Amino acid sequence: MKYLLGNGLLTSEGEFWLRQRRLIQPAFHKQKLAQLVTDMASCTGNMISKWEQGSYSQLTTEMMMLTLDIVSSTLLHANVKNNATIISEALSFLLKSVNIRTRTPILLPIWIPTPEHQKIKKAVKAINEVLDAVFEQRRSDSNQHHDLLSMLMESKYEASGESMSSKQLRDEVMTIFVAGHETTANALSWALYLLAKHPEKLSNCKNEIRQVLNGRTPEFNDLTNLKYLTNVIEETLRIYPPAWIIGRKNIKPDKIGNYAVPAGTNILISPYALHRDKRFWENPETFIPERFETGETIKKVKNMYLPFGAGPRICIGNNFAMMEMQIVLAMILSKFTPVLNPSAQVVPEPLITLRPKGLEIDMKPDFLN
Ligand code: HEM
Repeated sequence: MKYLLGNGLLTSEGEFWLRQRRLIQPAFHKQKLAQLVTDMASCTGNMISKWEQGSYSQLTTEMMMLTLDIVSSTLLHANVKNNATIISEALSFLLKSVNIRTRTPILLPIWIPTPEHQKIKKAVKAINEVLDAVFEQRRSDSNQHHDLLSMLMESKYEASGESMSSKQLRDEVMTIFVAGHETTANALSWALYLLAKHPEKLSNCKNEIRQVLNGRTPEFNDLTNLKYLTNVIEETLRIYPPAWIIGRKNIKPDKIGNYAVPAGTNILISPYALHRDKRFWENPETFIPERFETGETIKKVKNMYLPFGAGPRICIGNNFAMMEMQIVLAMILSKFTPVLNPSAQVVPEPLITLRPKGLEIDMKPDFLN
């Protein structure tokens, strides 16, 4: 990951990480993100138009392409459109090889020129070239852009008043690209799967969306009114947390239960296991969006519900992701009903993120009902 992401938020540590986090955090504030709603809705609208013309491939692929499109548009706005294919192909290849490398016990160092390593280097170079060109173009462009890139470029370190170096900007942009699309794509696929399996919950969702939007494209102010849909998303993230495992090293010696844990131990925390633990959840295996209705559940299970992690390293994109999922699901469910192929054998596949393996869902246009 570090080879791909350099020293971005996800892969940096200590003081360096803290300085970057402080610098970047304001760009992810809810009010700032409100500016990105139009972009998110327009990417979703483009996908839906394609579906209406009969071009729908497979839900997981569609969701992956959509979230990549959304992260490209909201990060780099128009600049990347022409190069979107280069970035998405190189990134898909790189994420596949990261998944393979994560599961390979003995790895050759990346500098040894195997054919696989050459391909990895070529893909990273292709992405770097696109990003360098975008940064260059942006620096000489006096127009105002309402995207994350301009927020990142305008942000200044408190102590020095300086902005990020080009290298750091590249690492942060890459990190947001990678951290910001596969997790959300999986969550969306899981949500549509769970709704397809629970027609009553699906119908509650559709009724709410009809009442709130009445056929309109969602806007920022609509999002707080899509309460049931939000509960569906929260419950989906409980049952199938895309970040199913989180790693930490303890700085000081510690004790967990009866176990002494020396400093520097690798500790794996599994949101997947916590979210299904009978001690904290009633009927943990059952899809019950209503359990999140009052907010009581979240209070009761504090630190047992970790779809976005917890503490200082909590996901910086959590509000972004929630907004994105609300918009995408509201727009899809306004027009389509997800129908699960009854013979599909769906199982969670724990790669870097938790993917739905074997998922076969058709999107039935509602005018056919
Ligand atoms: C449903 C979608 C998402 C889920 C489930 C998710 C989950 C997580 C989790 C669990 C962490 C913490 C990892 C740890 O503690 O070690 C994390 C970190 C992070 N996420 Fe997300 N994420 C999602 C969407 C996003 C989006 C949309 C973005 C950006 C646009 C994003 C950017 C990041 C970044 C940059 C970090 C590292 C933060 C840091 O260490 O300071 N994520 N995410």
